[in-house]
Amino acid sequence: MGKIFIDACFGKETPYTPVWMMRQAGRYLPQYMEVREKAGDFLSLCHNPQLAAEVTLQPIDILGVDAAILFSDILVVPNEMGMKLRFAKGEGPIFDEPIRNMEDIKKLKSPIEAANNLTYVYETIKIVREKLDDSKALIGFAGAPWTLVTYMVEGRGTKTYSIVKKLIYTNPQMMHSLLKKVTEAVKLYLEKQIEAGVDAVQIFDSWASALEKEAYFEFSWKYMKEIASYLKQKYPHIPIILFPKGIAGYLDDIDGEFDVFGVDWSTPIDLAKSKLGHKYVLQGNLEPTRLYSKEAIKEGVEKIANIMQNKRHIFNLGHGILPDVPVENAKYFIKLAQEITAK
Ligand code: CP3
Repeated sequence: MGKIFIDACFGKETPYTPVWMMRQAGRYLPQYMEVREKAGDFLSLCHNPQLAAEVTLQPIDILGVDAAILFSDILVVPNEMGMKLRFAKGEGPIFDEPIRNMEDIKKLKSPIEAANNLTYVYETIKIVREKLDDSKALIGFAGAPWTLVTYMVEGRGTKTYSIVKKLIYTNPQMMHSLLKKVTEAVKLYLEKQIEAGVDAVQIFDSWASALEKEAYFEFSWKYMKEIASYLKQKYPHIPIILFPKGIAGYLDDIDGEFDVFGVDWSTPIDLAKSKLGHKYVLQGNLEPTRLYSKEAIKEGVEKIANIMQNKRHIFNLGHGILPDVPVENAKYFIKLAQEITAK
């Protein structure tokens, strides 16, 4: 049996519209919390292939989603480039020694070395692919170079992005040399994920909306496209999903060699359909906070299903699931999306 998720990525007819959720392997699941406890902490869980594989598979068993996403984090890449990473309670990820000048960039490990060091990820993929039903897909992922660089330069999450954006306007050359190095690492990393057995890849550009249009295309989209073209040439059978969050105003200029465009919740899906639906399959975009209410889920799912008409669509949230969503509501969303689109 083929994989309905993969067929849908290539715009083929499927018995229903497949569905998965960004951040589906995570804290809203009590079973995840148990395994994280066993591992010790979040990063130790990422480094433990056996346990990382277990949490990757949880949403398949518990929710019945059509695809599993590899359990890891986008920040393991800068971490393996030599930047010390920690997750502080209530604060999220922190690099205590952020990149601030050319010397710091030169000190980073080479992209090849970084990609080679991520063995625990490739090991996780092999274990998952062995245990996962053949009809389900395994999605690998990486952060977009721009999103990774925001953390590498700021050192932590930010509201204004002022340190990293200042570089764009005061030292664009330095910005490009950092982005080039990270782009190389991401290319090799995704290539190795594919060689280890993932069926599709997604690139998360979570902080796309921090940039004005010209800057977005020069400092982010250009590099996303470069990674996509590189992978498409080598692995045409592996679907590529690009998810730039919050750029509804820039859709007219979106192009490139990839298969699926991830629509975030702030981009109306009818707008995305009219601008990009003929070129790319669309993934998304239920507003994640709708998961707090079954009525809100039903209303949102019906609206999206009506617009997409079961064609060239993959159901998902418009960003990651939040940690305090009731599991029952997540189940309701998955089942409803599958049933309402069944032919
Ligand atoms: O989607 C999945 O279920 C797969 C696993 C996954 C995680 N992070 C696990 C995680 C994926 C795909 C990511 C991507 C990621 N990580 C992004 C891009 C996607 C997005 O949501 O925008 C970003 C920006 C990060 C960086 C990151 N990691 C942040 C900002 C945080 C802290 C905020 C938070 O949600 O806690 C993390 C930690 C993180 N990554 C957790 C998980 C399950 C929580 C850690 C824990 O407490 O167990």
